[in-house]
Amino acid sequence: MKQSVEREFSKNAKNYNEYNIIQKQVAKKLISWLDTHPKKIIDLGCGCGEIYKLIDWELDNFIGIDISKTMCKLHPKSDKIKILNANYEDDLFYENELKNHNFDLMISSSSLQWCHNIEKVIKNFSKISNQCAVSIFCEGTFKTIYKTAGLKSFLPKYENIIKIFQKYYNIKFEIEKNKLYFSDNLSKFRYIKKSGVSGGKRKLSYVDTKQLIQNYPLDYLEFEVLYIKGERSPLN
Ligand SMILES: C[S@@+](CC[C@H](N)C(=O)[O-])C[C@H]1O[C@@H](n2cnc3c(N)ncnc32)[C@H](O)[C@@H]1O
Repeated sequence: MKQSVEREFSKNAKNYNEYNIIQKQVAKKLISWLDTHPKKIIDLGCGCGEIYKLIDWELDNFIGIDISKTMCKLHPKSDKIKILNANYEDDLFYENELKNHNFDLMISSSSLQWCHNIEKVIKNFSKISNQCAVSIFCEGTFKTIYKTAGLKSFLPKYENIIKIFQKYYNIKFEIEKNKLYFSDNLSKFRYIKKSGVSGGKRKLSYVDTKQLIQNYPLDYLEFEVLYIKGERSPLN
């Protein structure tokens, strides 16, 4: 899955700006939802800088991590920004590069849904960041597509993510359901492919995909996004 996420984002990096309509809205909401203006920020899955570009206050430093080299190259650069082309699930990378840092905020928008072990990531990063703010695509995303195809979503249940965060941070959360309308079914499926929300995970054959495109009953795609913000709990 990790390799397919990396491949998918590197392949579609140039298109990402055109097809990331929902992710852009999500990043905007996440930033406007913050209660403070943190000065030291770490961004997990920073992509080509959607979060950084929305920050309109003075920063001391900003570290962005992304597994896709192509996305990293597209991220804005300055002497206050450090972009690391790495996997934020990699323990060795965490130990060597990050363990001794201290951030005001760990932020992550539209990225953590592909984690193999999200609890490990949150546990690690809660040790080095006082606050968190994340948005995560959850199981209700593309619900009708999965139902029509008779498949199970690989996206996480929001209840499980909330429970994990509550172990490490005192949190507030919100669940948002979005719809994105299209004039035809082919455009919907092209959007899914180019936007990267599917993480490059392909479960259907060409024939099954064609049938699904023909049979999809809605004129919109469904998205379910969980927003979490919090302060590190004193017990951690
Ligand atoms: C949908 S994009 C979101 C990018 C950006 N945060 C935004 O809001 O537009 C998800 C990003 O997470 C990155 N990503 C996914 N899994 C990762 C991992 N384990 N380690 C580092 N980056 C990862 C992808 O390469 C991609 O750039």
